[in-house]
Amino acid sequence: MSTQAPTTEQIRDSWDAIATRFDEFVTPKSVVFGEDALRRADLRPGMRFLDVAAGTGALSIPAARLGAQVVATDIAPTMVERLNARAQAEGLSNLEGVVMDGEALDLDDDTFDVSASQNGVSLFPDLEAGLSEMVRVTRPGGRVLIVAFGLPAKAEFITFFMGAMQAAVPGFTPLPMDPPPLPFQLADPAAFHRKLVDAGLVDVEVETVTWDMPFESAAQFWDLFISSNPIGAQLTANLNDEQAAGVRQVLDGMLRERSGGEPGAVLHTETNIGLGTK
Ligand SMILES: C[S@@+](CC[C@H](N)C(=O)[O-])C[C@H]1O[C@@H](n2cnc3c(N)ncnc32)[C@H](O)[C@@H]1O
Repeated sequence: MSTQAPTTEQIRDSWDAIATRFDEFVTPKSVVFGEDALRRADLRPGMRFLDVAAGTGALSIPAARLGAQVVATDIAPTMVERLNARAQAEGLSNLEGVVMDGEALDLDDDTFDVSASQNGVSLFPDLEAGLSEMVRVTRPGGRVLIVAFGLPAKAEFITFFMGAMQAAVPGFTPLPMDPPPLPFQLADPAAFHRKLVDAGLVDVEVETVTWDMPFESAAQFWDLFISSNPIGAQLTANLNDEQAAGVRQVLDGMLRERSGGEPGAVLHTETNIGLGTK
């Protein structure tokens, strides 16, 4: 297996390949998390709002519903296409989706009242570049809001899925956790706080919250997991039909155990929400 870091084009293509499924299975579940995060940013109608690595709008659609003037950027063209379709379907003419690399934003300095990213910039191989770009384009006195997963051990959608894979697939090697995968690089609230200060922000606060993720069934959980990140897609890509069915069966048992026999259950995921002022 190659240990070389993926190129920007490879990262773009891997997200683009799952974008349609991401829009179908993931965004409808994560809009509530975007709404929750935005409550901290005091976003008001007419404010200029930037979403970096916007996916198909879990953060930028709620921002547009609040009346902000939204620029939503993502590196994957199909994500932006689906995001614009969502905005159009809701009649949100105050949201513009644009294809753009968050590590090198093609945007002017000091332009946005609030710049935000939900499980976006925290996935970047060059996190510092992503944060510094967000700070650069925010106006002095404006705010930067970053949402990022907490510890992998506190992310039940990961621990449940890895447990099911280990139980059902002989020889399955779980994700290496030392260091953890990139989506968890801001899992430590103290390190997260430091990164925001180093990026030039003041009055920095990092709050740890628990997100409740309700799943109706093991099949729905499976669809979400393999569509939420290229890592999930790669982990399951080589399973044969029997193995995949075996994983879903174990997941079904785990969800039923959690919920006292019901097919669906609520899983919890710790999340860190960082806010700072430029
Ligand atoms: C986990 S999704 C999060 C999407 C959205 N923020 C949400 O909360 O649902 C990560 C997003 O980051 C995007 N992405 C990855 N690398 C990027 C980069 N360098 N610049 C911009 N977007 C990037 C992917 O295309 C994907 O849409």
